[in-house]
Amino acid sequence: MTLSAVILAAGQGTRMKSSLPKVLHRLCGQPMAQYAVDTGRALTGGSPVLVVGHGAEQIRAAIGEQCDYVLQTEQLGTGHAVLQAVPLLHNRGRRALVWYADMPLLTADTLRALAEQQSRNSGPLTLLTVVADDPRGFGRIVRNTGGGVDAIVEEAQATPEQKAIRELNVGAYCFDADFLWSELPRLPVSPKGEYYLTDLIGIAVGRGLRVGAVPLAQPEEAMGINTRVHLAETETIMRRRINRRWMEAGVTMIDPASVYIEPTVSLSPDTTLWPNVQLLGHSTIGSGCVIGPNTFIRHSAIGDNCAITASFVEEAKVENDVHIGPYAHLRKGAHLASGVHMGNFGEVKESYLGPGAKMGHFSYIGDARIGANANIGAGAITCNFDGKSKHLTTIGDDVFIGSDTMLVAPVTLGDRSRTGAGSVVTKNVPEDSLAVGVPARIRKKSAG
Ligand code: UD1
Ligand code: CA
Repeated sequence: MTLSAVILAAGQGTRMKSSLPKVLHRLCGQPMAQYAVDTGRALTGGSPVLVVGHGAEQIRAAIGEQCDYVLQTEQLGTGHAVLQAVPLLHNRGRRALVWYADMPLLTADTLRALAEQQSRNSGPLTLLTVVADDPRGFGRIVRNTGGGVDAIVEEAQATPEQKAIRELNVGAYCFDADFLWSELPRLPVSPKGEYYLTDLIGIAVGRGLRVGAVPLAQPEEAMGINTRVHLAETETIMRRRINRRWMEAGVTMIDPASVYIEPTVSLSPDTTLWPNVQLLGHSTIGSGCVIGPNTFIRHSAIGDNCAITASFVEEAKVENDVHIGPYAHLRKGAHLASGVHMGNFGEVKESYLGPGAKMGHFSYIGDARIGANANIGAGAITCNFDGKSKHLTTIGDDVFIGSDTMLVAPVTLGDRSRTGAGSVVTKNVPEDSLAVGVPARIRKKSAG
């Protein structure tokens, strides 16, 4: 491995005004630090090192085994933070990328280009810069008359002329590893009592070594998050990126600004998303679907050619050619087979509806297994809870459940059986029979 990655995340993030560590604030549903960790994995093909301090345990719990952790017990500056990674990294690769976990818009492509520049640099480091009207408190890039980088001056230490500089330090560097590990311990302490990583630039220049600089092609990538306003701005850009990627992959969005897709979701071509759609968590959406308006789908798998309108779908599985809504609620363990129709004000939980089953209006189906082409009449309910435990309802193929039927579980209805409107079914109904009344009595279905 020639490249290693160090991501700094030990700061408190005071300006977030939060009890949650800054890098755990969510961006498009994922902790902010997750983006940097994913990028680090993509770049190195291994585990990046995450330097943690404030909220270290919380961060470990949220990010898990995807990176190696080092603890910076006292936040003595960005240079001091990288120094903590020495024991883990001094034998890992000829070059080290270092960046800050609060810049989730920074892409792997950009960091790869940075590393490539450094591989061609005779000097010990290359850094990313950005030209921006609003300096946002970033360090200023001081260049010499020949155009080379001379130093980075932090805003607090900058003279008025330096403050006017609009070329800024993004906060991403590629170092020659030997230089980094040998020079870090020699960083001077700043007037604020911190060890600034950015002082390595002055050290290199002082020795006559060349510092490379790569200007960002997309300035938005430099957006670091320090406040909740920055968080919301970044979220908007990230969401736009995700949406653009899916549109380029063949998904139609009527109004992308109102479509929220988390990075963990996947979609297929020729699906159309109407306004106000949220696709979250580990969800997959097939092709030829029409989703929305006003639809929420989380941790669910949706097949091809489905239509889901103004509905809530959570931890459910939906096969092909299924129609849902408006105003349907699929809860954990709902499984609708191909061709199911679920109309308005229906709720399904921990239940399987067989191919072609229909429940058009106002039904609750919980802990049930329903056969192919069964018809669930308006207002039918599985009474699955007796106050202590949940019980199963089993409904065969081609069963017709009359309107307002109460199915008191545990109960089984055989293939082709029927229930009368308003019946309360407390006993099993054999195949080809009819259940009517309160409590329901069984009759043999008349022929035809
Ligand atoms: C830093 C840079 C500045 C750059 C800006 C871009 C330095 C000295 N300054 O300033 O030139 O323009 O980022 O965003 O590097 N951290 C630690 N341990 C510490 C201190 C910080 O892990 O002891 C981490 C923070 O969690 C954060 C990152 O390092 O992720 C940057 O720290 P921050 O305090 O935000 O630096 P800036 O003042 O923004
Ligand atoms: Ca910052």
